[in-house]
Amino acid sequence: MKKLIVKGGNKLYGTIKVAGAKNATLPLMIASILSSKRLTLTNVPHVSDISTMANLLETIGVNIGLDGSNENDGHQGRAVYFETNKDIQDPVAPYELVSKMRASIVILGPLLARFHKARVSLPGGCAIGTRPVDLHLKALEQMGAKIELKNGYIEAKAKNGLRGADIKFEKISVGATQNIMMAATLARGVTTIKNAACEPEITDLAKCLKAMGANIEGEGTPEIIIKGVEKLNGATHKIIADRIEAGTYMVAVGIAGGEIKLTNIESWTIEGFKNELEQSGIKINILNDNEILISKEDAKINPVNISTQPFPGFPTDMQAQFMALMTLANGSSKIEETIFENRFMHVLELVRMGANIKPDGNTAIIEGVKNLNGAEVMATDLRASVSLVLAGLVANGKTIINRLYHLERGYERIAEKLVRCGADIKIEY
Ligand code: EPZ
Repeated sequence: MKKLIVKGGNKLYGTIKVAGAKNATLPLMIASILSSKRLTLTNVPHVSDISTMANLLETIGVNIGLDGSNENDGHQGRAVYFETNKDIQDPVAPYELVSKMRASIVILGPLLARFHKARVSLPGGCAIGTRPVDLHLKALEQMGAKIELKNGYIEAKAKNGLRGADIKFEKISVGATQNIMMAATLARGVTTIKNAACEPEITDLAKCLKAMGANIEGEGTPEIIIKGVEKLNGATHKIIADRIEAGTYMVAVGIAGGEIKLTNIESWTIEGFKNELEQSGIKINILNDNEILISKEDAKINPVNISTQPFPGFPTDMQAQFMALMTLANGSSKIEETIFENRFMHVLELVRMGANIKPDGNTAIIEGVKNLNGAEVMATDLRASVSLVLAGLVANGKTIINRLYHLERGYERIAEKLVRCGADIKIEY
């Protein structure tokens, strides 16, 4: 089983090109179902979740290929095309693929909108929580879908296609907002989504859908209005950079010290956590719209209290990384996780490295300690695993991180990018 061996103590200096956002790429890949024409995405990150989604789409009947044509020279990163140019008679998203990646549930709306039926496995829970899909299903029923749950599958039909509706989510959901926004692009009439998620990945998806001919207004605000159109065309879209990957490297500098320039990142997207990182003592210099200089020369880390919130609040996907930083603060800090019910799995592993953390329900009190000690630790989910890498960068001795597949789901070549900046990390096969 592949593992990472991290030896603590090295400061980080260099430049890191931020990859395209995993959490933007997944819905954008699904958007290709809405049109019979070619959708080309560029800046596609090399992470395993993208391959899993590609498998799922090919299973359903989407043609996928690498687009090496020179038309994309202006775009950065890997170009991949998607074509759903034939009628898919029996769209099924099978359990073995959906259970590996929950984002697959977002395929339901686009399949219903384009092919008027779909059979999608219920994703089931995951390490960080039960992750229900009730908001997705209720909203699609409001748009005229007939939905039944049978043998662990969602059986959905919309004989005459979907109709526009006034949807008000009782809870902010990124996935449900994406599902309904895509479904509404081909529905008859107007759909209003109230209490919509405002994450940059939603804005990026709307930008691509509009390039395909969709009629969308209000993306990035809590109210999105979509006017259904007959059909959508092809497009070429550059995927927005991964603000969570960027934030993770910013914390790496905060914990290990040094100076790193991040490139290929839309600077506005770090709004949700920039202040808290600066309060902790990290120097963040936004050089221009696409480059950020991160530096930290003194070892002092200030304690900062955070509560995770939907965008533009502090993102839940940065909570574990921030907790790793707070384990070495000179004082006590409090972290409240309000989005998922079980997103403290990294706590026990950090405690094994010498951290002083007291979890109580969805809140944890962290008393800063002088140093952490390397240990053999277990990754449990994507962000918990990266918090252990961050702790290992500064722990005395070696930290061995098992179950690397969690990390590879969402971080493009993280060991390589950190080693190039001076970290001592080896991969053991
Ligand atoms: C997306 O998950 C991201 N995943 C998550 O990132 C991220 O943590 C999350 O949004 C919140 O920002 C992708 O984009 C692929 P939600 P999603 O629906 O859409 C509850 C990572 O580490 N809820 O916004 O599944 C849900 O249980 C991953 O990259 C319902 O109750 O999250 C949660 O408590 C982890 N019913 C809250 O809403 C529903 O029908 C927010 O979930 C749907 C969600």
